[in-house]
Amino acid sequence: MPVSLIVLAAGQGTRMQSDRPKVLHEIGAAPLFAHALASGRALEPDHVVLVAGHGFAAVEKAAKALDDEIVVVEQAEQNGTAHAVAQARDALAGVGGDAVVLYGDTPFIRAETLEAMQAARAEGADVVVLGFEAADPGRYGRLVVENGALTRIVEFKDASPAERAITLCNSGVVAADAALLFDLVGAVGNDNAAGEYYLTDIVAIANARGLRAVAVSCPEAETLGINTRAELAAAEAQFQARARAEAMDDGVTLVAPETVVFALDTVIGRDAVIEPNVVFGPGVTIETGAQIRAFSHLEGCHVSRDAVVGPFARLRPGAELAEGAKVGNFVEIKNAEIAEGAKVNHLTYIGDAFVGQNANIGAGTITCNYDGVFKHHTHIGANTFIGSDTMLVAPVTIGDGAMTATGTVVTKNVPEGAMAVGRARMEIKPELWARTIARLRAAKAAQKK
Ligand code: UD1
Ligand code: MG
Repeated sequence: MPVSLIVLAAGQGTRMQSDRPKVLHEIGAAPLFAHALASGRALEPDHVVLVAGHGFAAVEKAAKALDDEIVVVEQAEQNGTAHAVAQARDALAGVGGDAVVLYGDTPFIRAETLEAMQAARAEGADVVVLGFEAADPGRYGRLVVENGALTRIVEFKDASPAERAITLCNSGVVAADAALLFDLVGAVGNDNAAGEYYLTDIVAIANARGLRAVAVSCPEAETLGINTRAELAAAEAQFQARARAEAMDDGVTLVAPETVVFALDTVIGRDAVIEPNVVFGPGVTIETGAQIRAFSHLEGCHVSRDAVVGPFARLRPGAELAEGAKVGNFVEIKNAEIAEGAKVNHLTYIGDAFVGQNANIGAGTITCNYDGVFKHHTHIGANTFIGSDTMLVAPVTIGDGAMTATGTVVTKNVPEGAMAVGRARMEIKPELWARTIARLRAAKAAQKK
């Protein structure tokens, strides 16, 4: 059965005290809405509609950057959660199957929870609402359950004292047949304390039509929504704790787990070893058996089997390390492929380059890739030996098996097997130092007089 996701993300998030729309604040180096989507992805949705309002253009841009198949629709005025869902109607016109409503600011709903909601649908419930037992029910909507059926949801503002005593609360996640959902949403009015169109009203409307609604429960931690910077920080901590635990469950060694920072999309293979204080930005994949040594920072890169990175290395977007490659301390790699067995061990910048198999890059080598306007490519062949402090002025090619002498500034292509020597010739002046020091001392003595 096809599934569509509707992610509500139009709210401003006033309490964030921010010029940025709330759902663009990040945890795990990904915007909040991407976490809601990642949960929803478990249902393998055919359609994803994001309802944006505050900061529409910025939210749309971020959504498209994540996945250009996401349809972003605008809710120009935020008249309530039912009104928000209604904005997705045209985008899903004629689409069969279920629709699942998620909140863009609620990042931790687990796949298993959404699957439990799907199971309740399969068992015949027309509308399934995700609830949780709240430790402090506060201002959440309350789920009214009678004889196993969910008969209505009452918003805190509209609730009687007896209803406020209910601890089973509304998370906001709803699943129903898509056509039915839009039909129910169309019947919602705004005669309530907030003057808003409440999505929660669809439950009473469904009951009045003789349809069956049920509540599925999940742990409260999953329903954590982000409204403030403090909650954002707490969510980051929760995300990191979960990512570390998952990595270890998958067979990754984390020497000091609490010091490793993950991104939402970090992928690490079995038996990889991650030393303390490693930061993964977005877009990192690490294959099995690789070793990421202490204090390394990686983003947008791929590290193959048995490669070693760091300590103190920086892999920037487009860094691609083949099997057994080595990138050592104080080395930066950007948009460059380091082929099998190649070594870049010390104090080096390799950018916009290819480094061939088993090449050895000496300490202090720099690919001078930028002329102030354009970026240029450097090709370093297989089995080359690049002497320490070589400056490779791109575009330039070092042929296979070639060598550059220490301190060479390479401005011409070096043919296969050749040696490039490009430095001032050293001379020995046997008497010069003694004469110089004598002259300087005499000058100082003259000053004192
Ligand atoms: C909502 C629920 C409440 C539930 C709580 C859980 C309703 C009427 N109430 O209340 O039962 O316990 O969430 O956190 O649904 N949004 C839009 N457009 C709008 C309004 C909201 O996109 O016009 C989005 C917000 O950006 C947010 C989500 O919907 O992501 C929830 O909105 P919010 O205003 O936080 O609803 P609550 O009052 O907290
Ligand atoms: Mg809320």
